[in-house]
Amino acid sequence: MYYPDELVEEVRAKSDIVDVISGYVRIQKKGSSYFGLCPFHNEKSPSFSVSPSKQMYYCFGCGAGGNVFTFVMNYENFTFPEAIKMLAERAGVNLPEIEYSDEIKKKENRRARLLEVNKEAAKYFFYQLRSEKGAIGYRYLSNRQLSDETIKQFGLGFANKTSDDLTRYLKTKGYTDDLIQEAGLASFDERFGMHDKFWNRVIFPIQDINHRVIGFGGRVMGDGEPKYLNSPETPVFDKSRNLYGLNFARTARKNNIILCEGYMDVIAMHQAGFNQAVASLGTAFTPGQANLLRRYTEEVLLAYDSDGAGTKAALRAIAILKEVDLSGKVINLEPYKDPDEFIKNLGKEAFQERIDHAENSFFFEIRILERDYNMNDPESKTKFHREIAKKLCGFSEEVERENYISAIAEKYHIGFDNLRKLVASYAAQTGLVKPVERPKSGIQKKNVPEDNIKRVQRLLITWITDEPKLYHKIKKYISAGDFTEDLYKVVADKLFTSLEEGNYNPASIISSFADEEEQREAAALFNTKLEALETEQDREKAFHDILYAVKKNSFDYYSTRLGTDVEALNKVIEGKKALEELGKTHISIDESQ
Ligand code: UTP
Ligand code: MN
Repeated sequence: MYYPDELVEEVRAKSDIVDVISGYVRIQKKGSSYFGLCPFHNEKSPSFSVSPSKQMYYCFGCGAGGNVFTFVMNYENFTFPEAIKMLAERAGVNLPEIEYSDEIKKKENRRARLLEVNKEAAKYFFYQLRSEKGAIGYRYLSNRQLSDETIKQFGLGFANKTSDDLTRYLKTKGYTDDLIQEAGLASFDERFGMHDKFWNRVIFPIQDINHRVIGFGGRVMGDGEPKYLNSPETPVFDKSRNLYGLNFARTARKNNIILCEGYMDVIAMHQAGFNQAVASLGTAFTPGQANLLRRYTEEVLLAYDSDGAGTKAALRAIAILKEVDLSGKVINLEPYKDPDEFIKNLGKEAFQERIDHAENSFFFEIRILERDYNMNDPESKTKFHREIAKKLCGFSEEVERENYISAIAEKYHIGFDNLRKLVASYAAQTGLVKPVERPKSGIQKKNVPEDNIKRVQRLLITWITDEPKLYHKIKKYISAGDFTEDLYKVVADKLFTSLEEGNYNPASIISSFADEEEQREAAALFNTKLEALETEQDREKAFHDILYAVKKNSFDYYSTRLGTDVEALNKVIEGKKALEELGKTHISIDESQ
């Protein structure tokens, strides 16, 4: 990456993960691992584990995981070069001046420079708000009842009237026109030259989960169009994968996250103590954001505007949350428009009550649906009941479906048996029990076959990592090619190669991924929870089943690719043989054999 692999590895090997993490988090030994409260999400009982043998950490609650580098990067909000520098110093390893590889140097440097220029701009806006010129902005925010403390916490700022103020300032700091434009802070035009994107607006810096400024929103003071201007997407600003306020909400220690529409709503809620509030970034809520939320919570409360547009947006958000198996509830803000207005008028106790009485998202959907029908007209009413039945088919798990049928039957005064029959008849038509419809976003629901396939692949990798000697017993049956997920294949390949060469070292594999999301996924692979099985016999059976399932999936996978993949035929023949043999082979997992 930045330094030669051997040097990265030397620093990692000399930075014992238990030592390093103990400096930040209280961890206690339990069995072969250490456990503590996860520093990356809210929790009351410890699910954050540190494994001295694997030299990795992993949180079973939020899925944060990695090696000593990723820990320091995430905890300290460091870039990789910063993290390795810190650890090298600590371990007494001399680092040479960085020899960047050209491609990476360019890309990473660019990202780092963009973050830097954003930070500088945020500082400038912040300073402006406190200057004479910014007094009007400060007054605007005070009138909206934001305290000094809140303004400071969110780093709110002001862009004043002159249209190239910021650009000129940034250039004195040595930033180029090019970079300033790429950050979306200014644009160039033949007539006026460089001019700032934001002027005469109060500024809301947008931060990622590590508190780095990745973009800005700017609001006009009073009426005017557009109400908000937002930074365009840039290499550091992905609007579909970040949420406003999540940098604070993720450590809020509440058992839900409140999702709303506006920056001001988030700020008003935080100020009132609801520090678990987040908002999307001037665009509709996306599956990427839902996935992000899933790392931090199991329940999302929607506090969308109570008007028609807000209701529509809430319905869409509910569907997206469902795709990632997050349970959603809806906060009723009537008679006010949004959380900000609600809290201003009725106060935080009333808001807390609304949270406590948030409506189940399915009931909300049905209640909204009801508006389209006339309950006094039998025909319209029947149509409404049919729509309900269709929607109920969306619950593929029987118990859940039955529970909803009975709740809805009671709520809408429909005979339970009648509704149940209606559901059954739609179920027959639409082939219920199979998952309703594959989400287009590529997100997989829990417990669909795909997920099981990934799960057994993860289990096998974790098991081999925990008991590396097993590899030599099974290597004639299994190879990296049997892992049908791209990232899993890469990890398996590196793991198996290191085991072959006798330098088994799972934590070093994590460092080979440059992307944070990939590092996290790779870490999860080494840390899937293995069921605690009592007897050796049970363990052997479980191991055999996992191995068999991975091989069987590989066989099926290549069988369907016989026409298109040149490797497939070999894999199918080899797979068939391995499966036959595995079917009658006992693999002992006793280390001594
Ligand atoms: P709202 O109009 O509800 O804004 O838009 P708000 O946050 O409540 O602001 P106040 O209270 O009127 O000051 C919700 C969100 O939609 C995006 C912004 O992210 C805003 O926070 N938006 C709105 C824009 O991006 N551009 C606009 O012109 C309006
Ligand atoms: Mn508002």
